[in-house]
Amino acid sequence: MLANTDLQARLAFAEAMADDAGALALDYFNRRETLVIETKSDPQDVVSIADRNVETLIRSRIAEVYPNDGVLGEEYGLEPGRSGYTWVIDPIDGTSPFVNGMPSWCVSIGLLHEGEPVVGVISAPCLGELYAAAAGLGAKLNGKVLSLDPSRNIRNAVTGIGANGHVTPASVARIIEALLAAGGTFVRNGSGALMIAYVASGRLVGYYEQYMHAWDCVAGYCLVKEAGGWVLPFPGEGRSLEKGGPVLAAAPGAIDDLKRIAGI
Ligand code: IPD
Ligand code: CA
Ligand code: CA
Repeated sequence: MLANTDLQARLAFAEAMADDAGALALDYFNRRETLVIETKSDPQDVVSIADRNVETLIRSRIAEVYPNDGVLGEEYGLEPGRSGYTWVIDPIDGTSPFVNGMPSWCVSIGLLHEGEPVVGVISAPCLGELYAAAAGLGAKLNGKVLSLDPSRNIRNAVTGIGANGHVTPASVARIIEALLAAGGTFVRNGSGALMIAYVASGRLVGYYEQYMHAWDCVAGYCLVKEAGGWVLPFPGEGRSLEKGGPVLAAAPGAIDDLKRIAGI
């Protein structure tokens, strides 16, 4: 059992770090025409110095305050720790909207304790939003408590769907077809982490993507659970945290439909 005071301290630390990391990312966003955009696994998978330097800022703060914690970040990989805690960070989630001048990107900072998400903080600087949660301490958006409405389901609300170059176009089409056939509808804003935060805030009733990484979902998973939703556990048990897997987060009234649509 984790001590509340320890988690409270780590949550406050993560919130302050997300504010500073968000400000640095926003500074890059406001002068994005000066950035050199590189591609990774495919031409739609982009990255710049902004992603790397935001991750470096977060890593240096963690090393100062919690030197025994592990860190997994999208840009610099896994550095194992000794404390049982691992920070899981995506310095910019939604790099595609970021480089194309759209506001739907965020800094995502999660914390695992013995494999369980125990802190989740997501900063969306263009929107002026900070999502923050810790296990047993609830979830908040800009200080306002989040609590999911059980009457919302895929037919009376909107579902987020994601896709990337790891999956086939046909499999994405099948998911969207099944959702529409069931009376639902979908959005994709280019940031999976932010759309999972939207599940926590009730804007979306669920989020499904066939293949994402831990840095895309750990923070959002903590937020959704603390707001009263359900998440599909990220594959663990001796498996490298760097490998991807299916990601599903749902409000109570959407769990069964989204599991069926995802074939889970
Ligand atoms: C991507 C975004 C996107 C999702 C991809 C992710 P990135 O992360 O979350 O919405 O569909 O699977 O890889 O590259 O912007 O950090
Ligand atoms: Ca990401
Ligand atoms: Ca990223």
